Amino acid sequence: MSNLAQKRILLGITGGIAAYKSIELIRLLTKAGADVQVVLTDGAKAFVTEMTLQAISGHPVRSTLLDPNAEAGMGHIELAKWADLIVIAPASADFMARYAQGMANDLLSTLCLATESPVLLAPAMNQAMWKHPATQANAKLLTERGILNIGPADGAQACGDIGPGRMSEPGDIFNTIMTHFDKAQVKQDLADQHWVITAGPTMEAIDPVRFISNHSSGKMGYALATAAMARGATVTLISGPVQITAPAGAKIIAVKSADEMLAACEQSMITQADVFIGAAAVADFKMKAANDQKMKKQSDTDEITLTLVKNPDIIATLAQQKRAKTLVGFAAETQNVIEYAKSKLERKGLDIIIANDVSRADIGFNQDDNQVTVITKDKTWSPDKTTKNALAEQLVEFIQQQTQS
Ligand code: C5P
Repeated sequence: MSNLAQKRILLGITGGIAAYKSIELIRLLTKAGADVQVVLTDGAKAFVTEMTLQAISGHPVRSTLLDPNAEAGMGHIELAKWADLIVIAPASADFMARYAQGMANDLLSTLCLATESPVLLAPAMNQAMWKHPATQANAKLLTERGILNIGPADGAQACGDIGPGRMSEPGDIFNTIMTHFDKAQVKQDLADQHWVITAGPTMEAIDPVRFISNHSSGKMGYALATAAMARGATVTLISGPVQITAPAGAKIIAVKSADEMLAACEQSMITQADVFIGAAAVADFKMKAANDQKMKKQSDTDEITLTLVKNPDIIATLAQQKRAKTLVGFAAETQNVIEYAKSKLERKGLDIIIANDVSRADIGFNQDDNQVTVITKDKTWSPDKTTKNALAEQLVEFIQQQTQS
């Protein structure tokens, strides 16, 4: 059964040429089992007809705030309470401005003020209108208030301009709605917990332009942060330099070297965290003394020697200081994977170690998939190979169960 079955969605349509795409959105939603009621602004009536929307949604279409007949059926406050989700597609610049100001001068804006349910906006307007500082300020304010958002997309516009302002495609809006209800179904059992996660490589300076680093993409750590947040945890993500987008909602601390990463971890766990996961690929060594100036190429020699010293072992230090109730490390190995991982678990004082074989080209560094073995003092568990995102959800579940035992 689709996760939209019996979900009550109030679709607000405001004035814009993209309004015709909302007909397709209603069709997708009703086909998936959702119950859709449509509210039009006056502007929207110039683009789509009430008759069409009524036929497709299977409900009378509402547009007037002070309509005694409609109010006799379902009053506007009742309608605001009825919705599990309000979707405004397209959301015009005018509507966003009114919503940001908290106005209630038509039915749709009143419903948005009166609802306690989530609201998702799919903005659509001319690219210059979207880029205007007033619209940008309204969009930012609405996001800060927790209003959800999709798009606008970039591309050719009905007016002939090219740029950001196209309404996202109905299929994309539909997927966002599905994801929203998926997330709402995930149990929020980590709501009181603080998880601190390191991710990505560290970058150790040789001189102002050169460094020692590694191929870590940060994907596993970022996926773990997303999975923990989906279950309600407060997540601090301490990340070395990576090319991927940070998950919305995490407190991100960007660092470069292992020393900076350790300092950020200690700072974040002045109060003991619930869980610490060291998913970062920390460089084992750093320069004994990094050069202040760019090192010159010396024409009289073919060799140079860099003196390296060991970096602090971040996770072992944090374990010793008892900075988290549960500490989870990763062990990337190319041989004797399980054996080496077990000895790391003990040596570093960890509760869980997640071992993977980085000699395999299809998993680990920079790949989207991963296959690991999870080891504790008394358990060994090898989940199937899967995407890092799916694996992250399983690992968060395992870690959570372990903290309970
Ligand atoms: O010793 P090794 O690098 O194999 O250990 C891997 C685990 O230890 C990972 O969880 C990694 O984040 C952590 N680590 C660390 N500080 C280091 C080296 C590794 O926290 N200097």
